[in-house]
Amino acid sequence: MKPLALVTGASRGIGLAIARDLAATHRILVGGRDEAAVARVVAELPEAAPFVGDLTDADTLAAACSGIDRLDVLVHSAGVARFGPLAEMRLETWREVFETNVFAVAELTRLLIPALEAAKGIVVAINSGSGFHSNPGGAVYSGSKFALRALTDALREELRGRVRVSSVHPGRTDTDMQRQMQSDAGNENYDGSRYVAPQSVAAAVRLVVDTPENAVIENLSIRPAVF
Ligand SMILES: NC(=O)c1ccc[n+]([C@@H]2O[C@H](COP(=O)([O-])OP(=O)(O)OC[C@H]3O[C@@H](n4cnc5c(N)ncnc54)[C@H](OP(=O)(O)O)[C@@H]3O)[C@@H](O)[C@H]2O)c1
Repeated sequence: MKPLALVTGASRGIGLAIARDLAATHRILVGGRDEAAVARVVAELPEAAPFVGDLTDADTLAAACSGIDRLDVLVHSAGVARFGPLAEMRLETWREVFETNVFAVAELTRLLIPALEAAKGIVVAINSGSGFHSNPGGAVYSGSKFALRALTDALREELRGRVRVSSVHPGRTDTDMQRQMQSDAGNENYDGSRYVAPQSVAAAVRLVVDTPENAVIENLSIRPAVF
């Protein structure tokens, strides 16, 4: 039987590209909130099943993970981005972003550690360049991605020798999220070709997954080649 990979945020964007790429060698659990969108991805992949639910709901997470006792790859791609000056950032925005980008990653990983250990598996967190730098307007998003890096750095050492933990940091990538960010910033001439293609991030994740068992790619940055 092929190894099993769970990809969160696989209904769209980077997660979808990762699911498509890994499907050549893995059975895929397709993560997303929109049942119909997830079903469409499941139907296009050779061996796939849905993993539907809001990752910020702890009960949903526990129920969704209950049948998984062996997992080779866990890719955390689901995420949200909110930008704006701190003076205008409401507490609910901080909570929404940290719930999705940090707390859900922590809880899903916690629930699946036994299954990952059983398979000597790999955790891949899709972080961001914003996990290394914080600029005006980026307190919430960068804050969540810095926290995600702290989480993966700690987890890597806690699980060393049993589960490998990688942090992949894309720059601007051509997805719905980037389109929204450019629109919010007043750029009405969106040109996706200026950004990293989601398939290129998937190629980076493929490199992480295919790295022989005696080594781990701990941090990997992938950024637009132009401008
Ligand atoms: N695009 C960029 O420029 C860029 C750059 C660096 C890092 N990243 C990171 O890359 C990752 C993927 O981003 P993307 O550009 O592919 O985003 P996207 O196109 O907006 O897709 C986001 C995905 O996350 C899922 N998701 C969001 N909140 C969720 C929740 N509470 N529960 C379950 N699923 C949830 C969405 O599911 P639904 O379809 O159900 O909404 C969707 O599948 C994120 O972690 C992001 O921070 C993106």
